[in-house]
Amino acid sequence: MLDQNKTPLFSGLKSHWEASPFSGHVPGHKFGAVFPEEARGYFKDILKLDATEISGLDDLHDPGGIIDEAQRLASDLYGSDETFFLVNGSTVGNLAMILATCKRGSKVLVQRNCHKSVLNGLELAGADPVFLPCEVDDNLGVAVSVDLPYLYKALETIEGITAVVLTNPNYYGVAIDLEDIVQAVHSYNIPVLVDEAHGAHFLLGAPFPKSALSSGADVVIHSAHKTLPAMTMGSWLHVQGEKVRKERVSHYLKMLQSSSPSYPLMASLDMARYYLASLSQQEKQAIVDDIKSIEHELKKVREIEVVTPSNSRLLVDPLKLTLRSTNGLSGFELSTLLEKEGLFVELADPKNILIVLPLAVNEKKHDMIERIVRAVSKETERGLEKEQITLPPFPAEISELSIPFSEQGDYQSIKCPIEEAIGEIAAEAIVPYPPGIPLLFNGEKITSSTVEYIKALQHIGARFQASEAFKSNYIYIYKKIKE
Ligand SMILES: Cc1ncc(COP(=O)(O)O)c(C=O)c1O
Repeated sequence: MLDQNKTPLFSGLKSHWEASPFSGHVPGHKFGAVFPEEARGYFKDILKLDATEISGLDDLHDPGGIIDEAQRLASDLYGSDETFFLVNGSTVGNLAMILATCKRGSKVLVQRNCHKSVLNGLELAGADPVFLPCEVDDNLGVAVSVDLPYLYKALETIEGITAVVLTNPNYYGVAIDLEDIVQAVHSYNIPVLVDEAHGAHFLLGAPFPKSALSSGADVVIHSAHKTLPAMTMGSWLHVQGEKVRKERVSHYLKMLQSSSPSYPLMASLDMARYYLASLSQQEKQAIVDDIKSIEHELKKVREIEVVTPSNSRLLVDPLKLTLRSTNGLSGFELSTLLEKEGLFVELADPKNILIVLPLAVNEKKHDMIERIVRAVSKETERGLEKEQITLPPFPAEISELSIPFSEQGDYQSIKCPIEEAIGEIAAEAIVPYPPGIPLLFNGEKITSSTVEYIKALQHIGARFQASEAFKSNYIYIYKKIKE
């Protein structure tokens, strides 16, 4: 193992700054000297690290110095063959891993509750997604994992699959053990690509869920910024084994990532790796015990429930705390009450709210618990939303796009009132955000249950990423261009 106490990228940037360099290069703020006075105090320290590809500071697109060393340390810690620093989140990792593995027109098995970047990657690659239904957990009321019998059936019956793309854990930190699945997919000589955006810390081992790399996955994506102390967008792409060609991954990352990647961001990845590597067993245990004590306190609060999956086979990331009102408030209403106490949660859904806890003993836990208690004690009546919202209407069978990506250019997009769009083919993605899982993607058939679900979500205040027209209850649909 390499010396994980080293932080070559951060240390290199620090030494460079400390040598009082004269900046005759970009960026224009000249290590913070040129910056609006009002904000300089906030930015000044970080701008000392905001250098560029000058002598001694290496180049992300041709690494051979401190960036290379920092990437090797990350690879060494995770046990990958190669690890790439990502400066545009897991988003760019998902795009690159798919472009590197999925051929135009080839079939790709994909778990339907994936992040939009997975579907965007498949569209860019011109691949044909074959959607696998998801298992929904009764307690949580959300899709948790791929429904395994469908995966095995698809592997047996569909010819020419070029990759299997899984998302594990889901946004709520619920995961399954992937080892048997990876082995089964590998027996067909197909690579397994795992979006483990929310699991960069799974390396720590139990009680954190088992990591995708240790389960044998070929490419694994981590949003270091989600659960480790890395700056927003800081992420990793790890590759292992021979099923995926590393030079293809590198080729697409060179294409997709900025030619001026942020040095503070990359240095924060170096520090996040160092932070993770230096956590001792005792420190890990202290964090886990601290989280248990938070849950214990919250279980005493009558107005809320700490929600865990009903299926004991599922593994749950201790850093993810899912709460629900016991008085019938929707997650959106509960989140609004918490915001009035200055507590902002990661996401709300029709039933739950999700809090992401830090990978550290939580100095502010009493403050957090008090804010929750104050918020829920202000509930005076049952929630506004009493009707039960059915689950996202993802296909219950193996399904494909009604219009493949490769043919969508032959159609024009036209605006249609949502209620009249049932049976039509969506020409845009409708994405509640967070979690960023498209309810509908361009090329998918619009069903009555999807429309009902969208309307119910709109009614209870969910936020969407979609076209402007969607705000006025329209949706874009595909119509054949007349010859
Ligand atoms: C499962 C999953 N994959 C990928 C992403 C994209 O990650 P990033 O924001 O790091 O680009 C997200 C973002 O929320 C996600 O939830």
